[in-house]
Amino acid sequence: LFPYTTLFRSRSPTLMASWTPTSWRGKPSQQMAEYEDKAAAAATFAKLGKLPGLVQPAEVDRLRTVLAAAANGERFIIQGGDCAERFIDCEPDRLDAQLKLLLQMGAIVAQSTGLPSVNIARIAGQYGKPRSKPTEMHPEMGEIMSFKGDNINGYEPKERKWDSARLLEGYFHSSATLNYLRGLTTAGDLGAMSQVSAGELGAEAAKVAKAISSSKPSADFAEFFTSHEGMQLDLEEALTRKVGSAYYNLSCHMLWIGDRTRQLDGGHVEYFRGIANPVGCKVGPSMKNEELQELVKILNPDKVEGKLVLITRYGAGKIESMLPGHIEAVKASGVPVVWQCDGVHGNTVTAKCPGNLKTRDLNEVLSECTQAVAIHKRCGSVLAGVHLEMSGQATITECIGGATTEAMLPNNYETYCDPRLNFSQAIEAAFKISAAVQENPPAKRARARSEERRVGKECRS
Ligand code: PEP
Ligand code: CO
Repeated sequence: LFPYTTLFRSRSPTLMASWTPTSWRGKPSQQMAEYEDKAAAAATFAKLGKLPGLVQPAEVDRLRTVLAAAANGERFIIQGGDCAERFIDCEPDRLDAQLKLLLQMGAIVAQSTGLPSVNIARIAGQYGKPRSKPTEMHPEMGEIMSFKGDNINGYEPKERKWDSARLLEGYFHSSATLNYLRGLTTAGDLGAMSQVSAGELGAEAAKVAKAISSSKPSADFAEFFTSHEGMQLDLEEALTRKVGSAYYNLSCHMLWIGDRTRQLDGGHVEYFRGIANPVGCKVGPSMKNEELQELVKILNPDKVEGKLVLITRYGAGKIESMLPGHIEAVKASGVPVVWQCDGVHGNTVTAKCPGNLKTRDLNEVLSECTQAVAIHKRCGSVLAGVHLEMSGQATITECIGGATTEAMLPNNYETYCDPRLNFSQAIEAAFKISAAVQENPPAKRARARSEERRVGKECRS
């Protein structure tokens, strides 16, 4: 396990010399909330700047190490959770369910594929949302601000004003959440938490579920990391701490840049390039090959393994035409990346049921993830894991698939933002994604490298 500072090589002294936790301020930044009461906001950020980090630098380093292993085909990442985590969900039953789902999915992957999982929750800070439109129309109130996550404004139409005091509430909810989750994994009933059910998924899945349920949970079973989208840069700056000569964002282990804020010359890319945490970047269908090549060089200037996660999210119908080009572009850059497939964000549709609810079909989600496994294999690359929006709640009806039909969506649709797979849909996803990995086992990268020249052409098939 290497602390980040020892991984730095002096290849880019000029570039890094100009980085500070505040250097993003000189660049245009999308999706930032602005606060009318400047004095109150200043007091909030000053307070956030003094509070203790929620995670330890050594844990952040550990995540980078296991992500590097996943990129090398030796582990598999399950990252998931709510689209918008809510303050009201900071309740023991909900947190139990959310953690149980994530750990069970990791266990299914590990048991099925033989690759230990890397379990990353979208939790304890996933309180900010980027929005396509800053405002929306309300039938009685007219034009109101869009909901941007509990960190920024309230979901109730009359609470839409941006309020910096919410950021402190966000910190304390993150802290309570993380404290509770850590307790569960150190002193909770892991035996109960690892009782996996394969439902109607067939004999092979039942065998895997039985093997997990009947064995003593390993240390790997209970290991988890936290993550959120790093969107409000003033917040992230306030939560950044200098450790030795490196800067860690100690609000969580991993942060990612959203598809709407990944401009090469923007504030988000600037902030993310300098922190020691593993950082993700969403890669949607509008990403050009040359742009991606530039981006990976900026975000991982020292070519650190396990540092940069590219989270592709094209849609099941687009991945085949987009991903091979992106893989080739990144290979040509020489920058090591961790490839992850977000199977949900490119597959959001409006349902025909009453209320025009946003939904996703589990089949489309699985199609994008399993195509990703096969395309990476074909291109001599490795799919290191998946990224999903999912809930430990068994009864929600937000996505179509399994026992949930389109007509059932209004029955229990509770998300404030994007639709999430429910418990059984997410477990089904874990089994089916594991099966795809079993069919296309990752080649160790040493081998992949020697095959690179040959694969370069085939990849375009
Ligand atoms: C998200 O992950 O919730 C999200 C908004 O994704 P994207 O930036 O890929 O649209
Ligand atoms: Co989302």
